[in-house]
Amino acid sequence: MRRVTSPTLLALYTSMAVAIFSTAIFLCCSLIFHFEFSFLYNTIFLFIIFLLSFALFRFVMIRFVYNKIKIIYKTIGRPLKFQEEVKSNSSSTLIKTVERDVAEWAINKNKQIRELKKLEQYRKDFVGNVSHELKTPIFNAQGYIETILDSDLDDPVFIKSYLEKANSNIERLESIVTDLLEISKFESGRIELNKEAFDLVKLIKKVFFQYHHLAQQQNTTLKVHSEENTIFVFADIKRIMQVLENLISNSIKYGKENGATHIFIHDLDEQFLIEITDNGPGITEEHLPRLFERFYRADKSRNRKINGTGLGLSIVKNIIDAHEQTINVTSELGKGTTFSFTMQKYIPD
Ligand SMILES: Nc1ncnc2c1ncn2[C@@H]1O[C@H](COP(=O)(O)OP(=O)(O)OP(=O)(O)O)[C@@H](O)[C@H]1O
Ligand SMILES: [Mg+2]
Repeated sequence: MRRVTSPTLLALYTSMAVAIFSTAIFLCCSLIFHFEFSFLYNTIFLFIIFLLSFALFRFVMIRFVYNKIKIIYKTIGRPLKFQEEVKSNSSSTLIKTVERDVAEWAINKNKQIRELKKLEQYRKDFVGNVSHELKTPIFNAQGYIETILDSDLDDPVFIKSYLEKANSNIERLESIVTDLLEISKFESGRIELNKEAFDLVKLIKKVFFQYHHLAQQQNTTLKVHSEENTIFVFADIKRIMQVLENLISNSIKYGKENGATHIFIHDLDEQFLIEITDNGPGITEEHLPRLFERFYRADKSRNRKINGTGLGLSIVKNIIDAHEQTINVTSELGKGTTFSFTMQKYIPD
Protein backbone atom coordinates (compact mmCIF):
# COMPACT_ATOMS: atom_id res chain seq x y z
CA MET A 1 0.00 0.00 0.00
CA ARG A 2 1.22 3.47 -0.89
CA ARG A 3 2.25 5.51 2.13
CA VAL A 4 0.55 8.89 2.60
CA THR A 5 3.42 11.26 3.17
CA SER A 6 1.75 14.61 2.54
CA PRO A 7 -0.11 16.46 5.33
CA THR A 8 -2.49 17.90 2.67
CA LEU A 9 -3.43 14.44 1.42
CA LEU A 10 -3.84 13.25 4.99
CA ALA A 11 -6.11 16.23 5.75
CA LEU A 12 -8.06 15.55 2.53
CA TYR A 13 -8.69 11.91 3.45
CA THR A 14 -9.61 12.79 7.03
CA SER A 15 -12.01 15.60 6.02
CA MET A 16 -13.61 13.28 3.42
CA ALA A 17 -14.13 10.76 6.19
CA VAL A 18 -15.66 13.49 8.39
CA ALA A 19 -17.94 14.60 5.53
CA ILE A 20 -19.10 11.01 4.86
CA PHE A 21 -19.64 10.44 8.57
CA SER A 22 -21.64 13.70 8.88
CA THR A 23 -23.77 12.72 5.86
CA ALA A 24 -24.55 9.40 7.52
CA ILE A 25 -25.50 11.14 10.79
CA PHE A 26 -27.52 13.73 8.88
CA LEU A 27 -29.42 11.01 6.99
CA CYS A 28 -30.09 9.05 10.20
CA CYS A 29 -31.37 12.19 11.94
CA SER A 30 -33.64 13.05 9.00
CA LEU A 31 -35.08 9.50 9.11
CA ILE A 32 -35.53 9.44 12.92
CA PHE A 33 -36.89 12.97 13.37
CA HIS A 34 -38.72 13.10 10.02
CA PHE A 35 -37.51 16.54 9.05
CA GLU A 36 -37.56 17.70 5.50
CA PHE A 37 -34.60 16.76 3.42
CA SER A 38 -33.35 19.40 0.96
CA PHE A 39 -30.71 17.97 -1.30
CA LEU A 40 -29.21 21.36 -2.25
CA TYR A 41 -28.93 22.71 1.34
CA ASN A 42 -27.68 19.42 2.48
CA THR A 43 -24.94 19.34 -0.14
CA ILE A 44 -23.93 22.92 0.65
CA PHE A 45 -23.86 22.10 4.35
CA LEU A 46 -21.73 19.04 3.78
CA PHE A 47 -19.42 20.90 1.47
CA ILE A 48 -18.90 23.56 4.15
CA ILE A 49 -18.18 20.85 6.73
CA PHE A 50 -15.73 19.29 4.31
CA LEU A 51 -13.97 22.60 3.64
CA LEU A 52 -13.81 23.61 7.30
CA SER A 53 -12.53 20.26 8.48
CA PHE A 54 -10.05 20.14 5.61
CA ALA A 55 -8.68 23.59 6.53
CA LEU A 56 -8.53 22.69 10.22
CA PHE A 57 -6.92 19.27 9.74
CA ARG A 58 -4.44 20.59 7.24
CA PHE A 59 -3.43 23.43 9.57
CA VAL A 60 -3.06 21.08 12.56
CA MET A 61 -1.17 18.47 10.59
CA ILE A 62 1.20 20.90 8.97
CA ARG A 63 1.88 22.46 12.36
CA PHE A 64 2.40 19.04 13.88
CA VAL A 65 4.54 17.76 11.01
CA TYR A 66 6.61 20.96 10.77
CA ASN A 67 7.28 20.93 14.49
CA LYS A 68 8.43 17.32 14.29
CA ILE A 69 10.56 18.09 11.26
CA LYS A 70 12.07 21.08 13.01
CA ILE A 71 13.10 18.82 15.89
CA ILE A 72 14.51 16.27 13.44
CA TYR A 73 16.64 18.95 11.75
CA LYS A 74 17.80 20.18 15.15
CA THR A 75 18.71 16.61 16.11
CA ILE A 76 20.75 16.09 12.98
CA GLY A 77 22.45 19.41 13.66
CA ARG A 78 21.13 21.32 10.62
CA PRO A 79 18.49 23.78 11.92
CA LEU A 80 19.12 26.20 9.05
CA LYS A 81 18.47 23.47 6.51
CA PHE A 82 14.93 23.22 7.91
CA GLN A 83 14.15 26.82 6.99
CA GLU A 84 15.64 26.34 3.52
CA GLU A 85 13.59 23.20 2.94
CA VAL A 86 10.37 24.77 4.21
CA LYS A 87 10.85 27.72 1.88
CA SER A 88 11.75 25.72 -1.17
CA ASN A 89 9.47 22.67 -0.87
CA SER A 90 5.76 22.01 -0.87
CA SER A 91 4.58 20.02 2.15
CA SER A 92 4.45 16.77 0.14
CA THR A 93 7.99 16.98 -1.20
CA LEU A 94 9.18 18.28 2.18
CA ILE A 95 8.58 14.92 3.85
CA LYS A 96 10.45 13.12 1.08
CA THR A 97 13.28 15.64 1.40
CA VAL A 98 13.38 15.07 5.17
CA GLU A 99 13.53 11.32 4.61
CA ARG A 100 16.40 11.83 2.18
CA ASP A 101 18.25 14.25 4.50
CA VAL A 102 17.88 11.96 7.50
CA ALA A 103 19.02 8.93 5.48
CA GLU A 104 22.01 10.96 4.23
CA TRP A 105 22.79 12.01 7.80
CA ALA A 106 22.55 8.40 9.04
CA ILE A 107 24.89 7.20 6.27
CA ASN A 108 27.40 9.95 7.09
CA LYS A 109 27.23 9.18 10.80
CA ASN A 110 27.78 5.47 10.14
CA LYS A 111 30.74 6.32 7.95
CA GLN A 112 32.18 8.58 10.65
CA ILE A 113 31.71 5.87 13.28
CA ARG A 114 33.43 3.30 11.06
CA GLU A 115 36.31 5.72 10.41
CA LEU A 116 36.65 6.55 14.11
CA LYS A 117 36.70 2.85 14.98
CA LYS A 118 39.33 2.27 12.31
CA LEU A 119 41.40 5.19 13.63
CA GLU A 120 41.05 3.91 17.16
CA GLN A 121 42.24 0.47 16.08
CA TYR A 122 45.03 2.08 14.08
CA ARG A 123 46.10 4.11 17.12
CA LYS A 124 46.10 1.03 19.35
CA ASP A 125 48.12 -0.95 16.75
CA PHE A 126 50.49 1.97 16.37
CA VAL A 127 51.19 2.27 20.10
CA GLY A 128 51.62 -1.52 20.30
CA ASN A 129 53.96 -1.55 17.30
CA VAL A 130 56.08 1.36 18.55
CA SER A 131 56.49 -0.25 21.96
CA HIS A 132 57.33 -3.60 20.41
CA GLU A 133 59.85 -2.21 17.92
CA LEU A 134 61.57 -0.04 20.55
CA LYS A 135 61.55 -2.71 23.22
CA THR A 136 63.66 -5.21 21.26
CA PRO A 137 66.79 -3.06 20.72
CA ILE A 138 66.51 -1.55 24.23
CA PHE A 139 66.39 -5.00 25.86
CA ASN A 140 69.20 -6.28 23.63
CA ALA A 141 71.48 -3.31 24.42
CA GLN A 142 70.64 -3.60 28.11
CA GLY A 143 71.48 -7.33 28.02
CA TYR A 144 74.91 -6.74 26.45
CA ILE A 145 75.75 -3.96 28.92
CA GLU A 146 74.63 -6.06 31.91
CA THR A 147 76.79 -8.95 30.69
CA ILE A 148 79.80 -6.63 30.57
CA LEU A 149 79.03 -5.27 34.04
CA ASP A 150 78.68 -8.80 35.46
CA SER A 151 82.03 -9.83 33.95
CA ASP A 152 85.43 -9.33 35.59
CA LEU A 153 86.10 -6.48 33.17
CA ASP A 154 89.51 -7.86 32.40
CA ASP A 155 88.98 -8.98 28.80
CA PRO A 156 89.10 -5.95 26.48
CA VAL A 157 88.28 -8.02 23.36
CA PHE A 158 85.13 -9.41 24.99
CA ILE A 159 84.14 -5.96 26.31
CA LYS A 160 84.68 -4.34 22.90
CA SER A 161 82.64 -6.95 21.06
CA TYR A 162 79.73 -6.63 23.53
CA LEU A 163 79.88 -2.84 23.44
CA GLU A 164 79.74 -2.99 19.63
CA LYS A 165 76.64 -5.20 19.83
CA ALA A 166 75.02 -2.82 22.31
CA ASN A 167 75.93 0.09 20.07
CA SER A 168 74.40 -1.49 16.97
CA ASN A 169 71.13 -1.95 18.89
CA ILE A 170 71.21 1.68 19.96
CA GLU A 171 71.81 2.67 16.34
CA ARG A 172 68.75 0.66 15.35
CA LEU A 173 66.77 2.42 18.07
CA GLU A 174 67.94 5.75 16.74
CA SER A 175 67.00 4.83 13.18
CA ILE A 176 63.45 3.82 14.23
CA VAL A 177 62.97 7.05 16.18
CA THR A 178 64.36 9.11 13.27
CA ASP A 179 61.99 7.38 10.83
CA LEU A 180 59.03 7.96 13.14
CA LEU A 181 59.87 11.62 13.59
CA GLU A 182 60.21 11.98 9.85
CA ILE A 183 56.80 10.40 9.21
CA SER A 184 55.20 12.62 11.83
CA LYS A 185 56.81 15.71 10.27
CA PHE A 186 55.49 14.70 6.84
CA GLU A 187 52.03 14.03 8.22
CA SER A 188 51.85 17.41 9.90
CA GLY A 189 53.17 19.14 6.76
CA ARG A 190 56.36 20.30 8.46
CA ILE A 191 58.73 19.03 5.76
CA GLU A 192 59.85 21.46 3.12
CA LEU A 193 61.05 20.12 -0.19
CA ASN A 194 64.12 21.52 -1.88
CA LYS A 195 63.23 20.89 -5.47
CA GLU A 196 65.88 21.05 -8.17
CA ALA A 197 66.57 19.56 -11.58
CA PHE A 198 68.67 16.41 -11.56
CA ASP A 199 69.44 13.34 -13.63
CA LEU A 200 67.35 10.43 -12.37
CA VAL A 201 69.35 7.76 -14.21
CA LYS A 202 72.52 8.93 -12.49
CA LEU A 203 70.80 8.85 -9.10
CA ILE A 204 69.47 5.32 -9.70
CA LYS A 205 72.97 4.15 -10.59
CA LYS A 206 74.30 5.77 -7.41
CA VAL A 207 71.75 3.86 -5.31
CA PHE A 208 72.56 0.65 -7.21
CA PHE A 209 76.19 1.16 -6.24
CA GLN A 210 75.19 1.70 -2.61
CA TYR A 211 73.35 -1.65 -2.57
CA HIS A 212 75.89 -3.41 -4.72
CA HIS A 213 77.10 -5.42 -1.73
CA LEU A 214 73.65 -6.55 -0.62
CA ALA A 215 72.79 -7.45 -4.22
CA GLN A 216 75.98 -9.49 -4.51
CA GLN A 217 75.12 -11.45 -1.35
CA GLN A 218 71.77 -12.40 -2.89
CA ASN A 219 73.24 -12.63 -6.40
CA THR A 220 70.62 -10.15 -7.60
CA THR A 221 71.06 -8.35 -10.91
CA LEU A 222 70.25 -4.62 -10.89
CA LYS A 223 69.40 -2.98 -14.20
CA VAL A 224 67.93 0.34 -15.32
CA HIS A 225 66.08 0.65 -18.64
CA SER A 226 65.59 4.08 -20.09
CA GLU A 227 65.21 5.32 -23.65
CA GLU A 228 67.51 8.25 -22.87
CA ASN A 229 70.83 8.16 -21.06
CA THR A 230 69.86 11.16 -18.96
CA ILE A 231 66.40 11.84 -17.61
CA PHE A 232 65.89 15.20 -15.97
CA VAL A 233 63.30 15.44 -13.24
CA PHE A 234 62.35 18.26 -10.91
CA ALA A 235 62.19 17.08 -7.29
CA ASP A 236 63.95 16.99 -3.93
CA ILE A 237 66.98 14.84 -4.76
CA LYS A 238 67.65 13.71 -1.17
CA ARG A 239 64.05 12.61 -0.71
CA ILE A 240 63.93 10.79 -4.05
CA MET A 241 67.13 9.06 -3.07
CA GLN A 242 65.36 7.83 0.09
CA VAL A 243 62.50 6.52 -2.09
CA LEU A 244 64.90 4.69 -4.39
CA GLU A 245 66.93 3.35 -1.47
CA ASN A 246 63.92 1.78 0.14
CA LEU A 247 62.33 0.41 -3.02
CA ILE A 248 65.61 -0.99 -4.35
CA SER A 249 66.67 -2.46 -1.00
CA ASN A 250 63.19 -4.00 -0.59
CA SER A 251 63.39 -5.57 -4.04
CA ILE A 252 66.70 -7.19 -3.07
CA LYS A 253 65.71 -8.11 0.53
CA TYR A 254 62.29 -9.52 -0.36
CA GLY A 255 63.22 -10.72 -3.84
CA LYS A 256 64.64 -14.16 -4.49
CA GLU A 257 68.20 -15.38 -4.59
CA ASN A 258 69.68 -15.15 -8.10
CA GLY A 259 66.79 -12.81 -8.92
CA ALA A 260 66.73 -9.51 -10.77
CA THR A 261 65.56 -5.98 -10.12
CA HIS A 262 64.69 -3.94 -13.20
CA ILE A 263 63.93 -0.24 -13.21
CA PHE A 264 61.97 1.06 -16.20
CA ILE A 265 61.51 4.75 -16.92
CA HIS A 266 58.55 5.58 -19.14
CA ASP A 267 58.00 8.98 -20.66
CA LEU A 268 54.49 10.29 -19.93
CA ASP A 269 53.39 13.71 -21.12
CA GLU A 270 54.44 15.92 -18.23
CA GLN A 271 55.81 13.22 -15.99
CA PHE A 272 57.94 10.13 -15.95
CA LEU A 273 56.65 6.83 -14.66
CA ILE A 274 59.27 4.85 -12.77
CA GLU A 275 58.69 1.13 -12.29
CA ILE A 276 60.80 -0.94 -9.92
CA THR A 277 60.18 -4.61 -10.62
CA ASP A 278 61.53 -7.74 -9.01
CA ASN A 279 60.93 -11.40 -9.76
CA GLY A 280 60.67 -12.42 -6.11
CA PRO A 281 57.93 -14.42 -4.34
CA GLY A 282 55.48 -11.49 -4.49
CA ILE A 283 52.93 -10.27 -1.96
CA THR A 284 49.46 -11.72 -1.34
CA GLU A 285 46.65 -9.45 -2.49
CA GLU A 286 45.19 -8.97 1.00
CA HIS A 287 48.39 -7.17 2.11
CA LEU A 288 48.61 -4.75 -0.80
CA PRO A 289 46.15 -2.06 0.42
CA ARG A 290 47.93 -1.82 3.80
CA LEU A 291 51.52 -1.94 2.59
CA PHE A 292 52.11 1.81 2.95
CA GLU A 293 50.90 1.89 6.57
CA ARG A 294 53.41 2.49 9.34
CA PHE A 295 54.95 -0.75 10.68
CA TYR A 296 53.04 -2.91 8.22
CA ARG A 297 54.99 -5.98 7.21
CA ALA A 298 53.49 -8.52 4.85
CA ASP A 299 53.97 -12.19 5.62
CA LYS A 300 55.63 -11.73 9.00
CA SER A 301 56.69 -15.38 9.33
CA ARG A 302 58.62 -15.34 6.05
CA ASN A 303 60.14 -11.93 6.76
CA ARG A 304 61.17 -12.63 10.33
CA LYS A 305 64.74 -13.31 9.28
CA ILE A 306 64.89 -10.09 7.26
CA ASN A 307 65.71 -6.91 9.14
CA GLY A 308 63.09 -4.23 8.83
CA THR A 309 60.53 -2.24 10.76
CA GLY A 310 57.92 -1.66 8.09
CA LEU A 311 58.43 2.12 8.13
CA GLY A 312 60.24 2.42 4.78
CA LEU A 313 57.18 2.33 2.51
CA SER A 314 55.29 4.72 4.75
CA ILE A 315 58.12 7.26 4.32
CA VAL A 316 58.20 6.57 0.58
CA LYS A 317 54.47 7.27 0.29
CA ASN A 318 54.79 10.48 2.31
CA ILE A 319 57.63 11.69 0.09
CA ILE A 320 55.73 10.94 -3.13
CA ASP A 321 52.58 12.59 -1.73
CA ALA A 322 54.58 15.67 -0.73
CA HIS A 323 55.72 15.91 -4.37
CA GLU A 324 52.04 15.67 -5.40
CA GLN A 325 52.79 12.52 -7.34
CA THR A 326 51.35 9.01 -7.05
CA ILE A 327 52.69 5.60 -6.11
CA ASN A 328 51.16 2.17 -6.67
CA VAL A 329 52.03 -1.43 -6.08
CA THR A 330 51.06 -4.55 -8.00
CA SER A 331 52.18 -8.05 -7.23
CA GLU A 332 51.68 -11.60 -8.40
CA LEU A 333 52.49 -14.53 -6.13
CA GLY A 334 55.47 -16.45 -7.42
CA LYS A 335 56.14 -13.89 -10.14
CA GLY A 336 57.21 -10.69 -8.43
CA THR A 337 56.32 -7.20 -7.31
CA THR A 338 56.26 -3.85 -9.07
CA PHE A 339 56.23 -0.46 -7.38
CA SER A 340 55.50 2.39 -9.78
CA PHE A 341 55.56 6.09 -9.06
CA THR A 342 55.41 9.26 -11.09
CA MET A 343 57.88 12.16 -11.13
CA GLN A 344 57.61 15.65 -12.50
CA LYS A 345 59.66 16.20 -15.65
CA TYR A 346 62.15 19.04 -15.65
CA ILE A 347 61.21 21.39 -18.47
CA PRO A 348 63.78 24.20 -18.89
CA ASP A 349 62.29 27.69 -19.53
N1 LIG B 1 59.61 -6.00 -3.34
C1 LIG B 1 58.91 -6.61 -2.36
N2 LIG B 1 58.58 -7.92 -2.44
C2 LIG B 1 57.88 -8.53 -1.47
N3 LIG B 1 57.47 -7.92 -0.34
C3 LIG B 1 57.78 -6.62 -0.19
C4 LIG B 1 58.51 -5.90 -1.19
N4 LIG B 1 58.66 -4.63 -0.77
C5 LIG B 1 58.05 -4.55 0.42
N5 LIG B 1 57.54 -5.74 0.78
C6 LIG B 1 56.75 -6.04 2.01
O1 LIG B 1 56.31 -4.81 2.51
C7 LIG B 1 56.70 -4.66 3.89
C8 LIG B 1 56.92 -3.22 4.21
O2 LIG B 1 58.07 -2.71 3.56
P1 LIG B 1 58.84 -1.49 4.20
O3 LIG B 1 59.90 -1.06 3.26
O4 LIG B 1 57.83 -0.51 4.64
O5 LIG B 1 59.44 -2.11 5.52
P2 LIG B 1 60.73 -2.97 5.77
O6 LIG B 1 61.55 -3.05 4.52
O7 LIG B 1 60.26 -4.24 6.35
O8 LIG B 1 61.47 -2.13 6.87
P3 LIG B 1 62.23 -0.74 6.69
O9 LIG B 1 62.07 -0.31 5.27
O10 LIG B 1 61.52 0.16 7.65
O11 LIG B 1 63.62 -1.03 7.05
C9 LIG B 1 57.92 -5.53 4.03
O12 LIG B 1 58.08 -5.97 5.34
C10 LIG B 1 57.61 -6.69 3.09
O13 LIG B 1 56.81 -7.63 3.76
MG1 LIG C 1 62.03 -1.28 3.44
